[in-house]
Amino acid sequence: MSAKRLLFLRSFLFAILTHLAAFSTPIHKAPALNGTNVDRLALLAIKSMIKGDPQGLLTSWNHSSTNFCQWQGVTCSLHHQRVTHLNLSHGGLIGMLSSSIGNLSFLRVIWLSYNSFSGEIPPEIGRLFRLRQLRLAYNSFTGNLPAALMNCSNLQVIYLGLNNLVGKIPDGIGSLSMLSRLFLHDNILQGGIPPEIWRLPRLQRLDLRNNSFTGNLLSIPPTLHTLSLSFNNFGGKLPSLTNGSALIFLDLSNNYFVGSLHNLVCSNGVNTTELVDLGYNQLSHVIPECWEKWSSLKVLYLNENNLSGEIPRTLGSVPLLQLLNMGGNMISGSLPSSLMNLSYLKILQLEKNNLAGIIPPWIGIKLTMLKILNLRSNNFYGNTPNQLCYLSHVQVLDLAHNNLSGNIPRCFNNFSVLSGKETNLEVQFSYNSGNNFLIVYDSLVMKGREDTYASFLGLVTLLDLSSNNLSGQIPSELTTLHKLKSLNLSRNQLTGKIPNKIGDMNSLESFDLSVNYLSGELPMSLSGLNFLSTFNVSYNNLTGRIPTGTQIQSFNESSFIGNKLCGAPLTNDCVHVHKPDTTSDRKEDGGSHKVDWGLIISIALGFIIGFWGIVVSLMLNRTWRITYFRLLRKLIKV
Ligand SMILES: *[C@@H]1O[C@H](CO)[C@@H](O)[C@H](O)[C@H]1NC(C)=O
Ligand SMILES: *[C@@H]1O[C@H](CO)[C@@H](O)[C@H](O)[C@H]1NC(C)=O
Ligand SMILES: *[C@@H]1O[C@H](CO)[C@@H](O)[C@H](O)[C@H]1NC(C)=O
Ligand SMILES: *[C@@H]1O[C@H](CO)[C@@H](O)[C@H](O)[C@H]1NC(C)=O
Ligand SMILES: *[C@@H]1O[C@H](CO)[C@@H](O)[C@H](O)[C@H]1NC(C)=O
Ligand SMILES: *[C@@H]1O[C@H](CO)[C@@H](O)[C@H](O)[C@H]1NC(C)=O
Ligand SMILES: *[C@@H]1O[C@H](CO)[C@@H](O)[C@H](O)[C@H]1NC(C)=O
Ligand SMILES: *[C@@H]1O[C@H](CO)[C@@H](O)[C@H](O)[C@H]1NC(C)=O
Ligand SMILES: *[C@@H]1O[C@H](CO)[C@@H](O)[C@H](O)[C@H]1NC(C)=O
Ligand SMILES: *[C@@H]1O[C@H](CO)[C@@H](O)[C@H](O)[C@H]1NC(C)=O
Ligand SMILES: *[C@@H]1O[C@H](CO)[C@@H](O)[C@H](O)[C@H]1NC(C)=O
Ligand SMILES: *[C@@H]1O[C@H](CO)[C@@H](O)[C@H](O)[C@H]1NC(C)=O
Repeated sequence: MSAKRLLFLRSFLFAILTHLAAFSTPIHKAPALNGTNVDRLALLAIKSMIKGDPQGLLTSWNHSSTNFCQWQGVTCSLHHQRVTHLNLSHGGLIGMLSSSIGNLSFLRVIWLSYNSFSGEIPPEIGRLFRLRQLRLAYNSFTGNLPAALMNCSNLQVIYLGLNNLVGKIPDGIGSLSMLSRLFLHDNILQGGIPPEIWRLPRLQRLDLRNNSFTGNLLSIPPTLHTLSLSFNNFGGKLPSLTNGSALIFLDLSNNYFVGSLHNLVCSNGVNTTELVDLGYNQLSHVIPECWEKWSSLKVLYLNENNLSGEIPRTLGSVPLLQLLNMGGNMISGSLPSSLMNLSYLKILQLEKNNLAGIIPPWIGIKLTMLKILNLRSNNFYGNTPNQLCYLSHVQVLDLAHNNLSGNIPRCFNNFSVLSGKETNLEVQFSYNSGNNFLIVYDSLVMKGREDTYASFLGLVTLLDLSSNNLSGQIPSELTTLHKLKSLNLSRNQLTGKIPNKIGDMNSLESFDLSVNYLSGELPMSLSGLNFLSTFNVSYNNLTGRIPTGTQIQSFNESSFIGNKLCGAPLTNDCVHVHKPDTTSDRKEDGGSHKVDWGLIISIALGFIIGFWGIVVSLMLNRTWRITYFRLLRKLIKV
């Protein structure tokens, strides 16, 4: 028998024997070994520092029950009855973490995330050389990241995100050669990153979001899948990716990176990357034409930088692109026709650039998955193409602050989400892959305020064509958009009447027609818009009485000024301007002989109430009488 086979037999026998021993060990055996006593005392010391335990997680941890391997959250090794796992995450525990945890020398896994531990992370954890996972995320730990931790050379996972840790990442982290995940996000850490981090041979996920780290990013190791450095103070130029890079998720947003995109975008090894977020930096120069290599890219954020030049043609060869945000740059030129290849595109945000040319009809024909199209604040001119009506899933269509002319397309009733034909809305738009996610956000003007919508963006329905040069009438087809919450047509050159059926748009919350040339009366149906909270028809040529309804009268006067309207909330009364107005209205209606009983009744009621109200007060009060007749004379002169 060869030595090799002998060795095999011996280890085989050993395995059997140890298994037998394990099974014959009675589970409730009293601790005979010293080590188990050490563990029991350490666990009790840990409990003694926990002051709050609302779920009663630690009631089983008591002196009378000696077999601590049965205590909740404790797992022991079968052979030695020593604590190997401590899992009290999501426990609601309040208190400090005892340094005695360092006495649990067989510990391999510490899971204490989602509790309310405060105080420092005990450096004694550094004695646990068997430790593989340290998860203390979502607590209130303070102080430094203990340098002693760098002695736990078997550590694979460190989750310390969302605490109040300060100071730097200790040098020596390079000795954690097994480390594959390092999560330190949402702390108060600062300083540079020890360069040895970039040489950790197994590092796959590095998440340092929301700290105050500084320094440059010289390279990205090929093992990394996820690199999240957003909301820090990193600067310098972008690194390149090397051949064979495994990078999937790259978030460098909200830092101070400068210079050109060229290094990164034109490097090798970009073919696995699905998400790149470089938003809110100080990147400049032309966006390079190297996108044909990015065969896995689904999400690209380049927004709020200082990028110039044109939209690269080669973006059209990124076949899976779903979310594209290049808003807030200085990009010029027109939309390249290669973009019509992006048939999976759901969100296209190009607002606040210098883009010009027409809005190409192929947007509607080819990009049929679009849910958000934001071209706000550019120089697009020409007509709004009817083909936009093919975008049946669109929820946010923002073309405001351009130079669009011509009519508003009549076919907007084809939008099936906005009209309510399609109802399965997502609450938020996001990219989700494994543990990585990004929530789409968009900055929109509603109710007169610009806000950034993220978590509930999927519930926003908005059509903003304001500040263009649109003319013609408001198409009555618009009123079939029953799910539209915000409609802004202000600052155009619209003429004609406000469609009578405007009251059908019963989801409207924000509605602005101000600064146009609209004429006629305000439709009575407006008073049925129960959710309306912002309304503005100021500076048109509207005439007649402001409809009475719970909402309408509560709006600010400035919503109505600049017209020939009367009635509350305006101060000019309109009892006598009534009759001529209603007759002229009837004449205008001409062909249609529909009798609007609601209108008639409310006019009659308004007349009776107004008449008696005024007659009674005139009889009662002399000074009012005088004022009233003076006003009347003034009106007649005008
Ligand atoms: C932990 O071990 C140290 C010595 O290694 C000892 O002094 C201390 O009492 C132990 N703590 C507990 C709670 O057992
Ligand atoms: C001690 O723990 C046991 C369960 O292990 C439990 O039945 C008992 O009530 C506990 N005693 C106290 C005083 O909490
Ligand atoms: C790490 O362990 C070595 C011995 O194993 C010890 O000398 C050193 O003090 C430890 N480092 C820290 C920071 O605790
Ligand atoms: C990277 O890989 C490509 C092919 O996959 C090869 O053409 C190129 O030479 C490689 N570059 C380097 C620097 O190894
Ligand atoms: C943006 O780029 C322009 C030139 O392309 C430059 O003049 C300007 O200073 C840059 N702005 C910032 C904030 O970098
Ligand atoms: C569009 O995609 C096809 C194949 O998917 C490709 O052959 C073509 O070059 C692309 N066109 C542009 C302009 O990128
Ligand atoms: C409405 O959209 C569909 C595709 O979603 C298209 O086939 C149809 O022509 C559109 N109708 C109008 C009037 O735009
Ligand atoms: C708007 O577009 C028209 C042509 O449609 C053009 O004559 C005019 O100069 C443009 N105005 C601005 C401010 O770009
Ligand atoms: C409508 O758009 C105009 C100009 O773009 C803006 O000033 C106004 O605040 C918007 N109205 C509402 C109600 O958001
Ligand atoms: C708006 O369009 C009209 C023609 O419809 C044109 O005369 C006028 O110059 C345009 N205004 C602007 C600001 O472009
Ligand atoms: C209307 O708005 C103006 C300013 O926009 C404000 O000063 C005034 O108090 C408002 N009036 C009412 C009745 O809310
Ligand atoms: C209505 O629009 C006009 C013109 O843009 C503006 O002056 C006024 O403040 C707006 N009123 C409200 C209540 O938003």
